Amino acid sequence: MFLAIWFFVSCIVSTGYAKIHYNKFPKDFIFGVGTSSYQIEGAWNIDGKGPSIWDNFTHRVPSPISNNDTGDVACDHYHRYKEDIRNIYNIGFQFYRFSISWPRVLPTGYSKPINEKGISFYKKIINEILRYNMTPVVTIYHWDLPQRLYEDGIDWTNPKLVDIFVDYARIIISRFPEVGLWTTINEPKQICRLGYGTGILAPGVKSDGLLEYQCTYVILKTHAATYRMYKKEFSHYKAKMSIVIECPWSEPLTNTKSNKDASERLRQFECGMYMHPIYIGDWPKIVKDRIAQRSKSQNLTKSRLPSFTREEIAFIKGTQDYLGLNYYYTYLVSNIAAGEKGFTNYEYDMGAIISENPNWKFDKNLRKNTPWGIRRALKWIKGQYNNPVILITEMGVSDDGTTIQDDQRIEYYREYSCNILDAMYVDKVKVVGLGAWSLMDNFEWMLGYKSHFGLYYIDFYNDPSLKRVPKKSVQYFRQIIKSRELICNIYDTNFY
Ligand code: BGC
Repeated sequence: MFLAIWFFVSCIVSTGYAKIHYNKFPKDFIFGVGTSSYQIEGAWNIDGKGPSIWDNFTHRVPSPISNNDTGDVACDHYHRYKEDIRNIYNIGFQFYRFSISWPRVLPTGYSKPINEKGISFYKKIINEILRYNMTPVVTIYHWDLPQRLYEDGIDWTNPKLVDIFVDYARIIISRFPEVGLWTTINEPKQICRLGYGTGILAPGVKSDGLLEYQCTYVILKTHAATYRMYKKEFSHYKAKMSIVIECPWSEPLTNTKSNKDASERLRQFECGMYMHPIYIGDWPKIVKDRIAQRSKSQNLTKSRLPSFTREEIAFIKGTQDYLGLNYYYTYLVSNIAAGEKGFTNYEYDMGAIISENPNWKFDKNLRKNTPWGIRRALKWIKGQYNNPVILITEMGVSDDGTTIQDDQRIEYYREYSCNILDAMYVDKVKVVGLGAWSLMDNFEWMLGYKSHFGLYYIDFYNDPSLKRVPKKSVQYFRQIIKSRELICNIYDTNFY
């Protein structure tokens, strides 16, 4: 009785805003944790694995990565997967999301030869997850394109990649029928914008406002072809399939109409560009119009944004069983008013620039902590795409590795989770689960090992044994998953 009253009271706590706050996760809400192959496996040239564009990128001289770090050894998960999966189980997580390294199973990227040792590695991982009664959530592609394909000119800007990817996906789907949930491609925006626009991620191509759009076009076709193949050839499988998209929230810097419009444009460029073709069909109109208009002003004969044929629109539309959502950023956005003509540039296409509010909370690697952003993003997604079922595949925060007392991370997960619950209960968004990023500190792309996202700490520079040391947040998750209760305050007002 006391508990019931306590729960009731905690649900209607008001701080003058008469705002209802719920603090209990539904019974069927699932908690999980994620990693990706290049970031944790190591064993980069072991047991028949071929090189990926990330091996090549990190081996460049001079290195594009902080401290010349590479993923050659990373967390050595290849040899320590049992311990890692046991750690996941011991926290109480219900799913483990990991990715398959394409060149570990197909060393050249082409469907032959198959590296059976690679297949057997992932088989062992899946069996281990199942042994603990957890669900294996598999990402088919988390950025490690086989280097051989890249050298053959078959990369994300080449439509020939579509069929080759589908052949790869077919092989792993047929070999791993035990997978509980599939995600095709992790974060097309990062692959295209950062890999082919700014060039800070592999393969390091700098083609701002040009090849990055071609990449997006090829990725969406690849995702759709994979989904369609899966539904046709594996109709006896029960696992659902989707793509994973990182969708930030944007707030206008000031409440002017032009800044509000710029914020919405940013959402359409950063999220709609990937979701609209899948959920509604075709690019968002504003994206299409802006890029066409600016291309024309540059005297180009056609838009820098490839257009979809009618068949392609129909082919891509509806290729999802749920939405895999990664959430990391909130932006303050203002309009770019002048100088819109005459050059190729993504930000000018979007007509929006991003700034940050110095009053926001920042983590130690200067990532903003804006819990209210996730609720707004979820609500926006619900409104735009007809209330899809959403699995938050990633959310997380980094630390600088100086302490395992990561209270800041605990605060982060608690505040974001409170906002997710508000989105679910108040805004009626269909969120079915949450995946923490990441299980353990790992290779954080261009930041190497200096950025620590893990629930487990690893000292990559001084400890050759790569001991996994639980941070305080391990305890937090253990407790939340067990009790399913959160103490939420009012965080969602006066947000900047
Ligand atoms: C990626 C992860 C990455 C994380 C933190 C996401 O964009 O999927 O691979 O480690 O963000 O930066």
